[in-house]
Amino acid sequence: MAGIGDPPYRRLCRRGGAAMVCAEMVSANALHYNDERSRRMLATFPDEHPISLQVFGNDPDRLAAAARAAADAGADVVDLNCGCPVPKITKSGGGISLMRDESLFARCVSAMVKAVRVPVTVKMRLGFRGEDNQAIRFAQVAETEGATAVAVHARSREDRHQGAPQLDELRRVVNAVRIPVFGNGGVQTYDDARAMMDKGGVAGVLVGQAAIGNPFLFMEFLAREKGRAEPISLRQRFDLFREHLSMIVEYYGETVGVRRLRKYIPSYVKGLPGSAPFRGRVNLLNKKDEVLDALSEFQNSLI
Ligand SMILES: Cc1cc2nc3c(=O)[nH]c(=O)nc-3n(C[C@H](O)[C@H](O)[C@H](O)COP(=O)(O)O)c2cc1C
Repeated sequence: MAGIGDPPYRRLCRRGGAAMVCAEMVSANALHYNDERSRRMLATFPDEHPISLQVFGNDPDRLAAAARAAADAGADVVDLNCGCPVPKITKSGGGISLMRDESLFARCVSAMVKAVRVPVTVKMRLGFRGEDNQAIRFAQVAETEGATAVAVHARSREDRHQGAPQLDELRRVVNAVRIPVFGNGGVQTYDDARAMMDKGGVAGVLVGQAAIGNPFLFMEFLAREKGRAEPISLRQRFDLFREHLSMIVEYYGETVGVRRLRKYIPSYVKGLPGSAPFRGRVNLLNKKDEVLDALSEFQNSLI
């Protein structure tokens, strides 16, 4: 997830039991123009494999070059973003815009597949409006062009992030191809994930927002799968917060790291008494030690 899935967060998710992590989407055009920030976004760490690096764009040659750059940077899988509805991405023809042009989509997938030895996958939405299911056709094209798997956010562009995922439509995509189809969208709990696997018939599930501030969600899911219920304790949650702080400061330096941690804080403290003033306080802090002190004080106030 853009702005979220950076190396520290991904490493936490792997430690938390995620089978694979996905990086923030990177622009193939920006890589073409040697944008330093985009190059840095391809960085991977030894303790986060297997990792999928995702690229977006609509120029087959640039996407092929971006896929090569991602593979050289250590990607175990290279993914093409065909689901992002954000205007900044779609107005340049990337993200879900690629689902408007089957022939261009085919050329993009094919160019990426030919460019790298690692598997190429595609992440898409069901379509543009509630009743559309263009994903059926686009998954078939992806398969024909050599994609190893597809992931489908089981909502339309119109739905954005609202409403339940359309599991029947997901099942129709699964039935239309031989390659594995992964499901995504609105999975918050183990039961949601199980329902997506059972009703949608998918090979696996991608979890986004529910894992923010709770990267150990994956371990909870795995425990439930084995018939055990092990919800993360308050203490584990605070320890995780501290670990995230250390990792993010180590990666970005203190000033940027502490600032970047702010977007994860609401999830870490969601539902706890006094979380709003705590958030307000921490959002004004710039030093790691100050955040640690505030955190200990808040944790003690809950005992
Ligand atoms: C802040 C944010 C950033 C996202 N960035 C990406 C991205 O870079 N690539 C991508 O494929 N999807 C991205 N998504 C979409 C998610 O991967 C996912 O498809 C969507 O949030 C639905 O899944 P969820 O309900 O589990 O969060 C992003 C979503 C959010 C909220």
